[in-house]
Amino acid sequence: MVHSNKSKYPPGGYGRFFLGAVAVFAAAALFWMTFSSGPAPRSFSVEVAEPELSSLAAAGKVLYEANCAICHGIRASGTDTGPPLVHDIYNPGHHADLAFFSAAKFGVRQHHWRYGNMPPQPQASEHQVKAIVRYVRELQIANGIRYKPHRM
Ligand code: HEC
Repeated sequence: MVHSNKSKYPPGGYGRFFLGAVAVFAAAALFWMTFSSGPAPRSFSVEVAEPELSSLAAAGKVLYEANCAICHGIRASGTDTGPPLVHDIYNPGHHADLAFFSAAKFGVRQHHWRYGNMPPQPQASEHQVKAIVRYVRELQIANGIRYKPHRM
């Protein structure tokens, strides 16, 4: 019998094995960049449908448009100066209503995105922010953003 050493090596030799490993690594890196919680692309906006609003949310909409839409976009869909609030990141399990009151009162230091800091919006009273939160939550619910427990 003629001895062959063919079966000792993977088909195509180690070069191909190496390329395969590189491809797996690249796919893992891409997955990590897409799904890790690091800063997302600087600017993007989402499609948002507006449901029929409660009366509190309807009042909130007017206040939202006067105070927040310039950065967070119409229907909280995002602009190039602020993130969409109709986004999984802002589901009530990750950003409770308190985050909205605090954002308006004290501003927000850049941490989820690369838009820079959110300046305080002291002209929006707590009473007004309450209505704004209702509006954003009703948009979230209508667009499939549900409460998820925060794990981080
Ligand atoms: C001048 C632009 C600007 C305006 C006006 C603005 N925001 Fe923001 N807001 C931002 C930016 C930018 C961020 C994202 C900061 C980050 O996470 O990197 C943000 C983040 C937030 C967050 C997330 C807070 C957190 O804890 O991560 C909430 C809630 C919010 N804004 C609500 C509001 C509300 C309500 C108004 C209106 C009263 C408003 N914003 C007006 C720019 C703005």
